[in-house]
Amino acid sequence: MAINKKEARLKEKEIKKFNKQKFKEYAKEKGRKNVPESEYVTKMKNEDNLIEFDNLRTYFYTDSGIVKSVDGVSFDIPKGKTVGVVGESGCGKSVTSLSLMGLLPGPYGQIAGGEIRYNSKKLGKVINLAKLPQSIHSKIRGGEISMIFQEPMTSLNPIFRIGEQIEEVIIYHEPDTTKEERKERTINLLKSVGISRVEEIYKSYPHELSGGMRQRVVIAMALACGPSFIVADEPTTALDVTIQAQILDLMRELKDKINASIMLITHDLGVVAEMADYVIIMYSGRVVEKGEVNEIFKNPKHPYTKGLLKSRPVLQEDTDRLYCIPGAVPNPINIPPGCFFKNRCEECMDICDREYPEVIDITNDHKVACHLYKKESKEAK
Ligand SMILES: Nc1ncnc2c1ncn2[C@@H]1O[C@H](COP(=O)(O)OP(=O)(O)OP(=O)(O)O)[C@@H](O)[C@H]1O
Ligand code: SF4
Ligand SMILES: [Mg+2]
Repeated sequence: MAINKKEARLKEKEIKKFNKQKFKEYAKEKGRKNVPESEYVTKMKNEDNLIEFDNLRTYFYTDSGIVKSVDGVSFDIPKGKTVGVVGESGCGKSVTSLSLMGLLPGPYGQIAGGEIRYNSKKLGKVINLAKLPQSIHSKIRGGEISMIFQEPMTSLNPIFRIGEQIEEVIIYHEPDTTKEERKERTINLLKSVGISRVEEIYKSYPHELSGGMRQRVVIAMALACGPSFIVADEPTTALDVTIQAQILDLMRELKDKINASIMLITHDLGVVAEMADYVIIMYSGRVVEKGEVNEIFKNPKHPYTKGLLKSRPVLQEDTDRLYCIPGAVPNPINIPPGCFFKNRCEECMDICDREYPEVIDITNDHKVACHLYKKESKEAK
């Protein structure tokens, strides 16, 4: 026991030393001035896409070891389309979006590899957000790329009035606008998200509004500079059920009006079915299935996706208990070899214990990472 404790202390010391070295390397890399454009200007693989995540790896260097929160994630967000990102808690949905926004909590959270290609209207070029210097990132973040968080108070400052906060976004991204223009735009934005008594709300503080109203304000703020891309991370989870429905209706209505691409992160497959064109299913920091939304709902392939769909409440069905996928997600530090879902999978085979499955094309628009769909693996069974 005493030896174990000693070993554990030594291990922790080793990890801390390793992390310190890593933080130094990242800080040096990020602290460089005049980074040449050639390091972050790139090309899209497909011009119809606004965003392409390509083998993104985002790690947290913790005292217990490296947490590979996002470990080789690839998917596209086509122009003008909504992509739903689904998966259990801790599977890496938010870390994927924070990597894109350049908002990872440093020095622990770092992009360790891969690209996030984005076709920027403002910069007039395709850039790799994973390598973009912070000074340029902040020019597009909140403007042409904006974010709606789960909890509206995360985005609102309690000590400033609603009008001032929206206008601040406009000043930052469009400093040439006049005071009158900014006020007019803010009032119109508040109207566009269904707020009545706009003059009164314009002068209010966040605490004077209900949760639903605050989330409408946050949506107005996200739309302030005509974004090309919006990340909505569980935008309705913090609200009660009736307000959730109203905010979803609003988002659906706006989606058709603004023609932006949306990355919608949610636990709720019902929301995905209603809002999204494509769906990405994540598990333990990886994409296990992705494709066009109707196809995935009609023809799910991955046992995890099937489990998620089975655990959805269905109105017409008379069931006493909802299905629950047995087991839990593996510890993200030192995940053993093989498929990450193997301990919970009813269809697990020998090969699943040894090799992580590669991505297989079911159709052009439907991909799955599972040995069940690889001819050789069936033979191995
Ligand atoms: N600041 C952090 N330090 C260490 N690990 C972190 C940190 N933030 C996230 N992680 C880890 O990264 C993994 C992915 O987290 P993430 O927040 O992306 O999950 P999520 O899919 O958004 O879950 P949820 O549905 O609960 O919001 C988790 O294992 C989490 O513990
Ligand atoms: S690869 Fe194997 S363990 Fe993983 S989901 Fe497919 S069948 Fe199940
Ligand atoms: Mg999250």
